[in-house]
Amino acid sequence: MLIIIPSVLDHQVALQLGREIAAADWVDGNVTSGTVAALAKRNRQLPEEGQVAARARRVVQEGLARSQLFLSAALPKRIYPPLFNRYGVGEGFGDHIDNAIRVLPDGDQMRTDLSATLFLNDPEEYDDGELAIDSDFGRVAYKLRAGDMLLYPSTSLHHVTEVTRGERIASFFWIESLVQDGAAREALFDLDQSVQALCVERGGTDAQVLRLTKTYHNLIRRWAK
Ligand code: NI
Repeated sequence: MLIIIPSVLDHQVALQLGREIAAADWVDGNVTSGTVAALAKRNRQLPEEGQVAARARRVVQEGLARSQLFLSAALPKRIYPPLFNRYGVGEGFGDHIDNAIRVLPDGDQMRTDLSATLFLNDPEEYDDGELAIDSDFGRVAYKLRAGDMLLYPSTSLHHVTEVTRGERIASFFWIESLVQDGAAREALFDLDQSVQALCVERGGTDAQVLRLTKTYHNLIRRWAK
């Protein structure tokens, strides 16, 4: 499932964050790629150590923790500490697949089930620079407003088209989900969204709402790992 999560960050907060990190020192983006991906990657990345990156990570993490839609769609078990990249004119990232396993800063490993890109400037500020993803329905391409995020299966080939004007600034990271199977996760998401809508209509003590809520949590008990 591929889903847009609107307003993970408030629009102005996202733009401000994009401007703040843009003023910091950047390095070649290949510091986080696998060797195959490195061949296709031309961009720059914000070094993970340093106060600017630490503060920026915190802002993104707080936004994620507040986003009910993100939590419902991703059912996160672990979230890789958000990274930041920028693509200037002539920079892009050819077709690649994200590494299946990432080593966390504490040395633990995590499986990447979902990939996320949170946009930190607006589409009007650059030409091209779309995030294009191979999906069940063919190739789809997105450029989102600052503060909005694209969540997509890490199992899909994807690329960022070469920027031809301006600059694209974004945060990117991976999620290990409590529910590895994408179809099961999507079913839980649909169920949760419908239960929440019914809860508003009928109230949380309605017998049908209660039974569906029970079903949702019991399915998570069966499937969460
Ligand atoms: Ni990627």
